[in-house]
Amino acid sequence: MALLALGLDPWSLLCLFLFQLFLAWLPLTAGGSGQGPLPRVTFGAGDGRRALSLFQQKGLQDFDTLLLSGDGGTLYVGARETILALDIQDSGMPKLKNMIPWPASDQKKNECAFKKKSIETQCFNFIRVLVSVNATHLYACGTFAFSPACTFIELQDSYLLPISEDKVVEGKGQSPFDPAHKHTAVLADGMLYSGTMNNFLGSEPILIRTLGPQPVLKTDNFLRWLQPDASFVAAIPSTHFVYFFFEETASEFEFFEKLHTSRVARVCKNDVGGDKLLQKKWTTFLKAQLLCSQPGQLPFNVIRHAVLLPAAAPAEPRVYATFSSQWQIGGTRSSAVCAFSLKDIKRVFEGKYKELNKETSRWTTYGVPEISPRPGSCSVGPSSDKALTFMKDHFLMDEQVMGTPLLVQSGVEYTKLAVETAQGVDGHSHLVMYLGTGSLHKAVVSEDNSAHLVEEIQLFPEPVRNLLLAPAQGAVFVGFSGGIWRIPRANCSIYESCVDCVLARDPHCAWDPESRTCCLLPTPIPLEDCFPCLLRKSWRQDMEQGNPNWACATGPMGRSFQSQSRPQMIKEVLAIPNSILELPCPHLSALASYRWSRGLAQVPEASAAAVYNGSLVLLLRGGVGGLYQCWATENGFSYPVVSYWVHSQDQPLALDPELAGIPRERMEAPLTRVGGGAALAAPRSYWPHFLTVTVLLALVLSGGLLLLLTSPLGVLRARGKVQGCETLPPGEKAPLSREQHLQPPKELRTSTSNVDADNNHLGPDVA
Ligand SMILES: *[C@@H]1O[C@H](CO)[C@@H](O)[C@H](O)[C@H]1NC(C)=O
Ligand SMILES: *[C@@H]1O[C@H](CO)[C@@H](O)[C@H](O)[C@H]1NC(C)=O
Ligand SMILES: *[C@@H]1O[C@H](CO)[C@@H](O)[C@H](O)[C@H]1NC(C)=O
Repeated sequence: MALLALGLDPWSLLCLFLFQLFLAWLPLTAGGSGQGPLPRVTFGAGDGRRALSLFQQKGLQDFDTLLLSGDGGTLYVGARETILALDIQDSGMPKLKNMIPWPASDQKKNECAFKKKSIETQCFNFIRVLVSVNATHLYACGTFAFSPACTFIELQDSYLLPISEDKVVEGKGQSPFDPAHKHTAVLADGMLYSGTMNNFLGSEPILIRTLGPQPVLKTDNFLRWLQPDASFVAAIPSTHFVYFFFEETASEFEFFEKLHTSRVARVCKNDVGGDKLLQKKWTTFLKAQLLCSQPGQLPFNVIRHAVLLPAAAPAEPRVYATFSSQWQIGGTRSSAVCAFSLKDIKRVFEGKYKELNKETSRWTTYGVPEISPRPGSCSVGPSSDKALTFMKDHFLMDEQVMGTPLLVQSGVEYTKLAVETAQGVDGHSHLVMYLGTGSLHKAVVSEDNSAHLVEEIQLFPEPVRNLLLAPAQGAVFVGFSGGIWRIPRANCSIYESCVDCVLARDPHCAWDPESRTCCLLPTPIPLEDCFPCLLRKSWRQDMEQGNPNWACATGPMGRSFQSQSRPQMIKEVLAIPNSILELPCPHLSALASYRWSRGLAQVPEASAAAVYNGSLVLLLRGGVGGLYQCWATENGFSYPVVSYWVHSQDQPLALDPELAGIPRERMEAPLTRVGGGAALAAPRSYWPHFLTVTVLLALVLSGGLLLLLTSPLGVLRARGKVQGCETLPPGEKAPLSREQHLQPPKELRTSTSNVDADNNHLGPDVA
């Protein structure tokens, strides 16, 4: 391209000026991100590298409730007015086994509409509870047009049998009235523990035990064990207790605004209620504050979801919970994930209580009472009146349960999570969290309790309603308003080189030097099965450091780095003189910084080249030929992503002898589109000049605009850069060519990406 063929042509001068300006703006338009770890790779909806399968059924919506069958092969789904059984054994799309309708009755729908609820959006049966009672029965509850109802559902070979109307019973306390209200339910030892709103208005929260042989027990509404706005998000049973996780207004703090707080409550499974006092009420109800915060920052005080990761032998069981904040920090919503050990929760429940002074309405600390057995413990009998009297007013613990923050992310609200451990090649367990927002984040927690995001999978603009991990299927199922996504744990094939595979730090993926592929580790790994263990010994992974230098080394340590930085493949570009060449560089990781080099020098310090959107845009003229490499630097490790040997057709350049022996791939520039000879012969026209100027001006203006929008600091830096341009060595600006012709960049651009459609997929192969 004859940008540099200035002569005295004013158009070309303007071109050069704008091009220099364009170079000056470029580095500043990048960067500027929120707080929290960036997902290393992001897949847009429909990206073929992360092929997801979507289950949808015509006429059905609100796929809110998910339940896995005992054998893990069937997924039961509670959708609006329907319950479905899906076969998930094959890796593809879930297949419908059968579905049964369970609509709210016409009478209830009419009553619902009469009470001024919407017949279009609210007066339906939204399924809220779906639990497995035994091998032949499920138990389901729904809002039933603001009149909660429950029923047993019989199974036959994990097919659902139709619901007969006479088997439907009232479900107050088990399902909310309003589909917008939160709820939780868990079946433990044949009894259903549920927490939700117990009235039409949604002003009376309840924590209730139903079904099974034990008496029905409730929280006492009059004693105010729960604040009227308590909102339940999870229930987790342990050996002796059932823990409830919820959020409510904090009454124990004096604060100028309504203060939300997150809680854990517990009840004993063997509670039978009181004889004289607290009849049909919990005698073991206690609650404590959950705290998820980073030192010196506002706490994340609104719990959104919680799950238990059962203990693997030496480690203690921990509860993982997502939180958001009632305050918007820096104008954006943010989330945190905290871990709470069951041991800490237990310790707080064994500590001091809080007591409300009825006269001053203030909460004070109350020590440990001299009552044995201790009130609230599971050995309190129904007739120990002294302990029960104490429990009526001492249900709030003095101490807080402090969580360990694992991940704090701004601009995102994680509403649901699932966790599992994955065993790496070295045999260590790694915690993997799947976090739902509008997309799915896969996070891996390191030993120092910090998390990195392996990937983000964009699903739908609609939020995730529910998230369920199916370990046997190696997939996460995500329910949303329109259907169910099946998301495999990982697609290790997207990492095409050892370096990329190791830098990804995905515990599910490891590099197999034998097959030169990034492989999915089988999980769970059968311990006694020796063959895969032997095989895996040679597999490469470095979860803690993510250091390819070490993990991808082929020879002795000293040699390894050299082998990593030597290109594995050179793309030879034979281009037309004076054309614009665009050399693409696939950006594999959002965590890497990218730069171009020419031989040993850095680009774009060399003239006549610019990096635009990651690609190197090169004005091909005499003397610019040579080796161009795009380097990625991630985790302190640099490697060439792609290497080009550029030379022009009229002056072929012999390959540097140092690069001999590296496989080469030739890419011809498309001749037809340039028509250099014709352009030379054509009468002089300013039209191409005009086009070039327009394009460059647009680029500069949009770059400048972006810059102004991103940071005021950037403007200052930009000034510095522009001045820097003027002090370029004279040689850099001097026109080297006498060509008088300017060619429009867009149309005549010689893009190697046109040459070989696969180029973009050709990652570095640096194993
Ligand atoms: C995994 O990634 C590879 C390479 O990008 C792609 O060809 C394949 O279709 C992907 N598979 C799935 C299941 O997403
Ligand atoms: C399963 O539970 C249902 C409902 O409680 C009961 O009717 C049925 O007898 C139980 N079946 C077995 C095999 O225990
Ligand atoms: C930048 O490059 C990516 C892919 O390499 C492409 O999808 C995107 O559209 C490009 N953006 C611009 C502004 O050219």
